[in-house]
Amino acid sequence: MSIWRYADLLHKVPQEHRISLGEGDTPLIRSRRIGPAAGLRNLFFKLEGGNPAGSFKDRFACAAVSGMLADGKQRCIATSSGNTGAALAAYTAAAGIECHIAIVETAPLSKLKQMLVYGANIFRIKGFGLDPVVSEAAFGELQRMGSRDDSAVQISAYHFSPAGMTGVQTIAHELAEQAEAPVDHVFAPAGGGGLCVALARGFMQKADQGRLDNVPAVEIVQPEGNDTIASPLRRGDEGAQTVTATTKISGLQVPNVIDGHDAVQECRATGGSGHAVPDDLIWETQARLAREEGIFCEPAAATALAGALRAAEEDRIARDANIVCLVTGIGFKDEASIDRMLAGVECPMIDLDQLREIE
Ligand SMILES: Cc1ncc(COP(=O)(O)O)c(C=O)c1O
Repeated sequence: MSIWRYADLLHKVPQEHRISLGEGDTPLIRSRRIGPAAGLRNLFFKLEGGNPAGSFKDRFACAAVSGMLADGKQRCIATSSGNTGAALAAYTAAAGIECHIAIVETAPLSKLKQMLVYGANIFRIKGFGLDPVVSEAAFGELQRMGSRDDSAVQISAYHFSPAGMTGVQTIAHELAEQAEAPVDHVFAPAGGGGLCVALARGFMQKADQGRLDNVPAVEIVQPEGNDTIASPLRRGDEGAQTVTATTKISGLQVPNVIDGHDAVQECRATGGSGHAVPDDLIWETQARLAREEGIFCEPAAATALAGALRAAEEDRIARDANIVCLVTGIGFKDEASIDRMLAGVECPMIDLDQLREIE
């Protein structure tokens, strides 16, 4: 079992070049406490943190790196806020391909270390991921590096790497098969918007195959401090907007449009809307997922649920709707957010005498 069971829907790669580390087939579980507390009777979580390198980006890296093997490429040039880099570092290690990754200025240390452990060469670029002008120029330089015959640029967005993004579309296929009842809304976090486009395209593919009667509304959630897509989608704008990123949520600091125009158009076509939420609500939701559901995720991964809870509060979704929130990455990689959740919590050291006094 891996995303290759959908091989006929992915970028075409001959069998002998397909790499797999066991990605995909992530669980879909019902909310036990947060849903009922909000009056949402059918709230579910799809847990993408269970992928081999810890996030949904493994689906991208799996398809992208396998495609590189098939094309005889030996050098991967990439950029990442953390999870794409970790995923590409893992899959290029498995494929025996060189990997060079430009990291956004604010990438959490654990994500950076994870890439280094897999043997990737990494460097950070000042202002990248915060300033749209620096970010645009950096993308251009990476494309220059990737234009060498033996190289390919891998950035997890349709705008740059459409072949790899077909791997992300498998989330929609799995979801459509796992859900016991038709899904009404899928809430997903957006940085560049590639994930949301992949969901919309995956559901449309399934519908075109005649295997999905109701295409779920793909609901885009972003931090207010990186509102490139959410508000334009809600307002009825034609496309996304460029911003200066002020959010602290790693992975969602993407000031440029990237896949934003497609996200606006294609998610609107599914009936979905946009939801902008403050960082504080995302952090609070991350802690609630751990304490009330037993789900340890990073802040970006809690963003979808923050948006769904906000939408429920504002009566934008029906209480009995079938709702899935994507929990896009595992919690171990963002130490600052762990420290924030543990503020004031201590682990005391005791001796045997004190232990004997505990009832
Ligand atoms: C955990 C997590 N969730 C969501 C996203 C957003 O994905 P996209 O940039 O495709 O919108 C990212 C991107 O890095 C991420 O790492």
